[in-house]
Amino acid sequence: MNHHAVEIIDYTWKYLHGTGEAVSGLNLTVEAGECIGLIGSNGSGKTTLVNSIDGLIPGQYHGIKTGEVRVFGTEVEEYKRGELQREVGLVFSDPEAQFTAMTVEDELVFGMENLGLSLKEIQVRLDWACELADLGSMLEKPPYEISGGQKQRVALAAVLAMQPKLLILDEPTAMLDPISRARVFDVLARLRKERDITMILIEHTLEHIIPLVDRMVLLGEGKVLHQAPTREFFDDLTLLREQGVLPPSVVGFSGWLRESGRVDGPSALSIEEAADQARQARGGE
Ligand SMILES: Nc1ncnc2c1ncn2[C@@H]1O[C@H](COP(=O)(O)OP(=O)(O)OP(=O)(O)O)[C@@H](O)[C@H]1O
Ligand SMILES: [Mg+2]
Repeated sequence: MNHHAVEIIDYTWKYLHGTGEAVSGLNLTVEAGECIGLIGSNGSGKTTLVNSIDGLIPGQYHGIKTGEVRVFGTEVEEYKRGELQREVGLVFSDPEAQFTAMTVEDELVFGMENLGLSLKEIQVRLDWACELADLGSMLEKPPYEISGGQKQRVALAAVLAMQPKLLILDEPTAMLDPISRARVFDVLARLRKERDITMILIEHTLEHIIPLVDRMVLLGEGKVLHQAPTREFFDDLTLLREQGVLPPSVVGFSGWLRESGRVDGPSALSIEEAADQARQARGGE
């Protein structure tokens, strides 16, 4: 049977010591192979939502849950121990916290060994993940000899080598400098081209996720406030601004051209498209 990758139905979560509901009557569906950008201001419930999908909630946290969180057709609480972790890979912000082995190679191999893969399969996946994440000469290095950006690419490669069906990234580049950040997004872009993976990406810098995602979902106070295919999502910027989510300058500029009646049509998403709209606004050249 063909299941949704994620199906969340009337889901509410209240942390035991939380003041209100962190996620409140939320409904969301993610199809297999889809890539979703999850955005919203601090405290809007993004991390709570993804941790409810990857099994940390209610596993690692205490609280009150109502509604359903289904991943590949099965409610997360009904997965047998360890089974959900085979399906869902998680990368979060802190590169230090994710690096557990003494060398890059061990870090990459560890998870695959736990899956019980053959040596041959491990080698094939190791080569693939190293190539994809551009880890070339790093394999023998200990963690203290590589940078935060490199560590984060190793963490990502280690997760990808396990070939999860669903990849969740919770602000994977929040602690990286702009160049390291761009390199992580390059890896994700290549991944999308090569593999039919389902992805949920939380990221505050919208310009990085726009080229990558099929659909954007805006959370506010634990609810889905707005969701639409990426370009359509930016038709109206009012709600985004109200939620304190800053559209990328290209989108903001295009919004200004459209709101002031200088051009019609959908939002520009790239510099080239915005330049076209600017030309149009001046009466074409
Ligand atoms: N362990 C916890 N115990 C109690 N309340 C929590 C806990 N973790 C988060 N919360 C609360 O739940 C709500 C949602 O928080 P969450 O971390 O999911 O938001 P977020 O959208 O990921 O924010 P950010 O952009 O800052 O990462 C907030 O009100 C937060 O204070
Ligand atoms: Mg968060």
